[in-house]
Amino acid sequence: MRFLLLFLLFHISHTSSSSELRALITVKSYITDDPQSYLSNWNATTPICSFTGVTCDYTGRHVISIDLTNFYLSGTLSPSFGNLRFLQNLSVSANQFSGLIPTELAALSGLRYLNLSNNVFNGSFPTQLSQLKSLQVLDLYNNNMTGELPVCVTELPNLRHLHLGGNYFTGQVPSSYGRWEHLEYLAVSGNELGGKIPPEIGNLTKLQQLYIGYNNGFEGGLPPEIGNLSELVCFDAADCMLSGKIPPEIGKLQKLDTLFLFRNILSGSLSPELGTLKSLKSMDLSENTLTGEIPESLAELKNLTLLNLYRNKLQGQIPEIISEWPELEVIQLWENNFTGSIPQKLGSNKKLKFLDLSLNRLTGKQKLHGSSTFFFFLF
Ligand SMILES: *[C@@H]1O[C@H](CO)[C@@H](O)[C@H](O)[C@H]1NC(C)=O
Ligand SMILES: *[C@@H]1O[C@H](CO)[C@@H](O)[C@H](O)[C@H]1NC(C)=O
Ligand SMILES: *[C@@H]1O[C@H](CO)[C@@H](O)[C@H](O)[C@H]1NC(C)=O
Ligand SMILES: *[C@@H]1O[C@H](CO)[C@@H](O)[C@H](O)[C@H]1NC(C)=O
Ligand SMILES: *[C@@H]1O[C@H](CO)[C@@H](O)[C@H](O)[C@H]1NC(C)=O
Ligand SMILES: *[C@@H]1O[C@H](CO)[C@@H](O)[C@H](O)[C@H]1NC(C)=O
Ligand SMILES: *[C@@H]1O[C@H](CO)[C@@H](O)[C@H](O)[C@H]1NC(C)=O
Ligand SMILES: *[C@@H]1O[C@H](CO)[C@@H](O)[C@H](O)[C@H]1NC(C)=O
Ligand SMILES: *[C@@H]1O[C@H](CO)[C@@H](O)[C@H](O)[C@H]1NC(C)=O
Repeated sequence: MRFLLLFLLFHISHTSSSSELRALITVKSYITDDPQSYLSNWNATTPICSFTGVTCDYTGRHVISIDLTNFYLSGTLSPSFGNLRFLQNLSVSANQFSGLIPTELAALSGLRYLNLSNNVFNGSFPTQLSQLKSLQVLDLYNNNMTGELPVCVTELPNLRHLHLGGNYFTGQVPSSYGRWEHLEYLAVSGNELGGKIPPEIGNLTKLQQLYIGYNNGFEGGLPPEIGNLSELVCFDAADCMLSGKIPPEIGKLQKLDTLFLFRNILSGSLSPELGTLKSLKSMDLSENTLTGEIPESLAELKNLTLLNLYRNKLQGQIPEIISEWPELEVIQLWENNFTGSIPQKLGSNKKLKFLDLSLNRLTGKQKLHGSSTFFFFLF
């Protein structure tokens, strides 16, 4: 009896391994080129747990991770990935995989990490993959995906990191993108998106990084609800046709260290609330149609290392405050309508490396303080 049980156990584990072996051999057969022979030991005489890029669980029976990152592989993804039922991590990032993402991946109920970035996968995102309820990371960055930005990903309740950038997705950012409870990272940048940015984005209370710019052409501006993203550290919405005013609610983002809104058609003046962004290190609002003066409140931005406001319609004096930011390295205010004289103490910022105030209507000769050498253009 005991013997029979042992035999059965052995048999079960053995069959399960051999079905995983079959799956891996099939996976290999879909790879048309492996110039560095990374997969040469993926054969029946090697135990699967010793296959290059394969990791098994502690019992040594089941494949839990496959990492083929940067193996110079070409080909397509085999549907038999779906037979590796114990898979938790799958990365095929940085290869030349093409064709469709197989719907069979939907069977991987324990999958937590899926990185398909930097390949040439095409077609639309398979709706079946909304079954991956354990998925925490989905990275599709830099592929040839088309179709509407997928809505089915909103049915992945455990998602923390979603990168859909650098594809050819069209349509709008769905309002259901505000639904994730745990999402910390969202990138839809570098697609062909349009429509309005949904105010529901403001419901992502855990969000730390938000990338929506580049190539996208949105209608209207930033919803004031952006100000509700209290954990936001990095916000990049450059070059995506944003219009209207910069909502003063942005000032509520107390953890924000990077704000990139350059190359849009934002108008109105810089609201004094920007001065309450006390963690801010980099702010680039260049190439918009901003008017008015630089508000005095910006003096509070003591951690600022980069301030770019070039190619706007800002006017008034360049305030003394710019010589008081101790961390300042780069400041570009060129092609505005600033008048008056150049701030007295300019150049006393010890870390300053690059200063460009040219193409304004500034007057007066300025002897620059500052012991360090840096590049500057004043007129
Ligand atoms: C199978 O893999 C082993 C390494 O584990 C290698 O020595 C052997 O040449 C491979 N066999 C074939 C037929 O590629
Ligand atoms: C799976 O990926 C996560 C995140 O990259 C990593 O922390 C973990 O160690 C990986 N697990 C395995 C078995 O490779
Ligand atoms: C996906 O893999 C690439 C390597 O090509 C890596 O740079 C990137 O950070 C990975 N994505 C995530 C979310 O871990
Ligand atoms: C995907 O790319 C392949 C070539 O790699 C092409 O034959 C196929 O038509 C493309 N499919 C879609 C949906 O774009
Ligand atoms: C990916 O898309 C680009 C731009 O449409 C195209 O030039 C390229 O041939 C595509 N690559 C593949 C493998 O389909
Ligand atoms: C999400 O945001 C919208 C608009 O900002 C709001 O009306 C809605 O009640 C919010 N939904 C949830 C579930 O918090
Ligand atoms: C979100 O932002 C809007 C507009 O700024 C505001 O009216 C609303 O009270 C905020 N909601 C939460 C939950 O903070
Ligand atoms: C400046 O940044 C440091 C850490 O980088 C932080 O501890 C400090 O609070 C910041 N200063 C202000 C005024 O927020
Ligand atoms: C520059 O400012 C002056 C007033 O200070 C105004 O008359 C002029 O129209 C402005 N020029 C531009 C291009 O905004």
